[in-house]
Amino acid sequence: MIEQTFERLESRSRERIAAAMSREELEAVRVDVLGRKGELARISKEMGSLTAEERARVGKLLNGAKQGLEAALEARKAEFDRAALAARLDAEWVDLTLPATGAPRGSLHPITIIQSEIEDLFVSMGFTVLDGPEVETEYNNFDALNIPPDHPARDMQDTFWLKSGQLLRTHTSPVQVRGMQKLGPPLRMIAPGRVFRNEEVDASHEHTFYQLEGMMVDREVSVGNLIYFMKTLLSSIFRKDVTVRLRPGYFPFVEPGFELDIECLICGGAGCPVCKQSGWVELLPCGLVQPNVLRMSGIDPEEWNGFAFGLGLTRLAMMRYAIDDIRLLQGGDLRFLHQF
Ligand code: DAH
Repeated sequence: MIEQTFERLESRSRERIAAAMSREELEAVRVDVLGRKGELARISKEMGSLTAEERARVGKLLNGAKQGLEAALEARKAEFDRAALAARLDAEWVDLTLPATGAPRGSLHPITIIQSEIEDLFVSMGFTVLDGPEVETEYNNFDALNIPPDHPARDMQDTFWLKSGQLLRTHTSPVQVRGMQKLGPPLRMIAPGRVFRNEEVDASHEHTFYQLEGMMVDREVSVGNLIYFMKTLLSSIFRKDVTVRLRPGYFPFVEPGFELDIECLICGGAGCPVCKQSGWVELLPCGLVQPNVLRMSGIDPEEWNGFAFGLGLTRLAMMRYAIDDIRLLQGGDLRFLHQF
């Protein structure tokens, strides 16, 4: 009689366990059957009224039913766990054999590329690379370069003045002054850097651009030496022999001063929009250092002389990479920068 009660209870419970579709439903079954107020608990409460002999028999049945149902619950729970794991593995599946996309890589700015090439070249020829501040004194930017306050050449460069009386350097030439004072003669130096002019910005004018200054001071430096270094510089940058010509040019810090032009690399000298149909591109102002400039920096011009040049790095990058708008160089547009 009591055996049948247990059998029924067990088989009904097993059916409910099998029918449970989630851990929550399963837990509800467990509470109903095995919980403190569940069916087995109720039966065991009634055992108080039984004889000792009956109690032992029923107790055994009760324990058997309890253990059997606990095992069935565990087994069902394990099934849910397996299914959950399988679903998760399926959802998070990754094909490790697919080729990786690779991390995005940056690239060097065209000016940086050209600047480091020129630095390597000049270092190989015994030149030192110098750095100077972008905020300069009026003296270094103008006076020490033989441009006194009332000199009309000051108007050639529209200057950004600071309230302090200092200025944003309008060219890299003040680094010549710093180089002469720091290193003394004989001297071979270059100074790449950023310069600033109060210019209206358009496709060929920027308020911020790059130059590379060069200076050599020694005994008996000639225009021939100057031309040699300039041709070496240009053919190394353009990776071929370039045809150059010298025209007289005026800069207060050189005498004689020149504009060094190269034959247009776009049209080979035939004439095109880049060279404004002239076949020549103005690229490299230079000259022999004005004796006053040496003297003002403590070098005796009777004993020493030299050459200097001021390469337009920005202009050069535009020539080499055929960039037709100067604003691209400062613009930070990744579509432009990724091409280098
Ligand atoms: N500093 C001049 C400029 O920015 C360029 C220049 C001309 C530099 C002649 C030189 C030089 O060293 O010899 O316009």
